[in-house]
This record gives sequence, C-alpha cells and structure tokens, in this order.
Amino acid sequence: MKILLKNARQLRRDHETERCDILIEKGEIIKIAPDIDEDADKLIDCKHNMVFPGFIDVHVHLREPGEEHKETIKSGTEAAACGGFTTICAMPNTTPVPDNTVTLQALLNKIDDDACVRVLPYASITKNLKGEGLTDISGLAETGAFAFTDDGVGIQTADFMLRAMREAAANGKPVVAHCEDNSLVYGGVVHNGQVSERLGLPGVPSLCESVQIARDVLLAEATGCHYHVCHVSTKESVRVIRDAKNAGINVTAEVTPHHLILNEEAVKADDANFKMNPPLRSQADQQALIDGLLDGTIDFIATDHAPHVEEEKAPGFRQAPFGIVGLETAFPLLYTYLVKTEKTTLNDLIDWLTAKPANTFQLPYGVLQEGAMADLTIVDLNKSTCIDKQTFISKGKNTPFHGWQIQGIPLATIAEGRIVYEEGLDG
Ligand code: DOR
Repeated sequence: MKILLKNARQLRRDHETERCDILIEKGEIIKIAPDIDEDADKLIDCKHNMVFPGFIDVHVHLREPGEEHKETIKSGTEAAACGGFTTICAMPNTTPVPDNTVTLQALLNKIDDDACVRVLPYASITKNLKGEGLTDISGLAETGAFAFTDDGVGIQTADFMLRAMREAAANGKPVVAHCEDNSLVYGGVVHNGQVSERLGLPGVPSLCESVQIARDVLLAEATGCHYHVCHVSTKESVRVIRDAKNAGINVTAEVTPHHLILNEEAVKADDANFKMNPPLRSQADQQALIDGLLDGTIDFIATDHAPHVEEEKAPGFRQAPFGIVGLETAFPLLYTYLVKTEKTTLNDLIDWLTAKPANTFQLPYGVLQEGAMADLTIVDLNKSTCIDKQTFISKGKNTPFHGWQIQGIPLATIAEGRIVYEEGLDG
C-alpha cells in the first residue's frame, strides 16, 4: 500500500518547522520533500499539522496473558496507537510470566496475531518473578526477548543481580530494573513524607529506591552490563545515576509523565487513582527529575501504563493495586505541562519519546527520514480538550488526570506503513 501524506509540518533542529509531503510504501518512508506529486492508494491531507516519528514507550503493562479483563494485547496496542505510539515494550508481570522460551514464543505468536503496533516483550530475570532462580537468559534472548526485567518487584539480593548482569552482558542484553529494597518499604502505599502524615497512611521511603540503584550501578561497573533504571522517582536516585554516568558506568534511566507533572501535593484524598509504584514524591524530587531529564542524567520518558479495573481501585490506598494508565494521555500532558509552560522545548520532548529510547536500546526506529521505517504520528498542536477517562480505548480508566485540560492531540498514527489510528483527519 502506497500512502501519500500532503501538507505535513516537520520539526527542524533549529526549532522551526517546515512544510513537507511524505511518501510511504511497503512500510518504509520513500521520500520526504516539499511537494510530492504521485499516485497513491491513500492520500492523507495533514492540514498543516505536525508529523513526528512514532513514539516509543519501553514500559507498558499489557496484562495478557492472565488478566485480560484489565487489558489485552489488542486493546493496549490500540490505546498506544491512539496516543501516537508505534513501538511499546511489554512488561513480564503476567500469568504466566515469560520466564521460559515456550511461554515467550507463545507470547510472540499472540503479539503477531493481535497487536496493531510493534510490541517488544521483556522476559523476566528470575523464574515467576520470585527472585529465587535465574531464567535461561541466553535461550530467552535467542527466542526474542527485548531485554530482562522483574518489573513490579526489585531484585533483592546483590548476588542475583550480579549473576543476571553477567548473563545479560554475555548475551548483549540490558538489565532493566524496578528498584525497590523490600526491607525498606514498611508496607508503604504513598510517599513517606508530607502526604503519608496528612492522610495517615503508611509511607514508602525514598531510600528503598536509591539504595538499590547505588548497589546496582556498582554491579553494572563490575560486569559491563547495560543497566537501565525504570521510573526514577527520587532526587537521591537522580544523584546516584548522575555520579555513575560521570564515572563512565553504562547506566541509563527513564522517568514517567506523572512523576514529572505531579508530586505528593496532588494527593488530596484517599483516591487510589493516585496510587502507583514508585509513588508521587515531594516537590523537590519532582524538580530533580525535571532537572535530571534536562541535563541528560535521565535519558527519556516512559509511561508505566498499568491498567487496573475500577472496582480494584475503589477501596482506596490501603487495598488498591499500584498503577495508573498512561498511553493515551502522555503526549498531550507532557506538551501542555512541560512545553507550553516553557520548562522544555518541543524538540526535547520529541527526542525523549523517540530518538532517545531508540538509541538507548539500539532500536532502528524513532526517526523521520527517507529509508526509515514508516512509523509516524500526526499531531494537532493547537487542538485542546479535557481528559475524559470514559473515552479511553484502554480497558483501564485508572488515571489521576481525569478532567485535566490538555493541548496537542494525535490525529493519526501510522505503524510500519499501516494506518493504525485515524480520528479527525479526512482521507
Ligand atoms: O504502579 C505500578 N504498577 N508499578 C509497578 O511497578 C507495577 C505496575 C503494575 O503492574 O500494575
């Protein structure tokens, strides 16, 4: 199928935009030029809206297999397409866990059948995420694991992390870490600080995250493994990562939109739509995350899209599971609350959603140029709306941003040359 995009605008490195047409054929960008006059199977008039490389999210919970009432590969990838994402990486806290080559292969087959955007699945570091037996890292790598993680839980012993990093490094794969020392969690459900005191809830100390990162960067140094830190949330974590990078250690890190936009002060009541792990931290932590992103200590943004059903969230902080959805709101929230407020530039934001994650994990995506994979999203930067969780394509409606005003809405998404989302652009 040949697709011709007319009247698009692309970003230039100097922050200006320029008008362009884009010709797509057989999943590839064939030509980008000011005026392309050619027959195509499908003509899309972009009406002078922006075209960006398709967004990449390396931290998504698709819930399938095992919890299809929360999300499926189909619903999760459709939500991704609606948010402008064309590559997402699926976390392994599913039932069963992709901790062996047979389960991973079955997952890859299901992705082939049901996904409308590219899904790269993680395999777990330990069997059944129990922290007790290491998985067959080389077999899983060969079968097609994107990388290795026990996301949802931290690796509790240094010995296990050391062995995992040795194996991962030998197979050229990164270790992607949810950092949480269980001995320092104390049953916490919100950040240990102002909010835990105000609401009388058990608090999660910042230390439970940063001490594990401190341990792991030394293990990464010893093994040479690429060590990637998930959802960084504290100022001490940012400092440890910055120091490790300065020491030449192969460490990278991500931060979520919610940790950049919110802090513990947003938690006004016992509303579990504000419950996630790690929790919303202090204002000083939030500022350190923004500063860390701006100075390159934190490499890019990932959503930690974690759908749960409303009945589970209803009982409040003590009982509800951790997690909020993010795929459909990430770009507009970041555009509205980081770019429009001049905390950062549109060029930086697009880099953090495209080229930066691609480069970090050596993925051949995230660029808009001739010869590249035709992964792209068309965004109306002037369109604004209110977030209404009932309109989400995701099965998860668990968001703290319901009712928020946003600007910058994806109108159409093309993944490997296929139109996977189109709303508001006539053919
Ligand atoms: O908030 C979270 N939810 N953090 C995690 O680490 C796991 C995730 C989930 O799976 O729900």
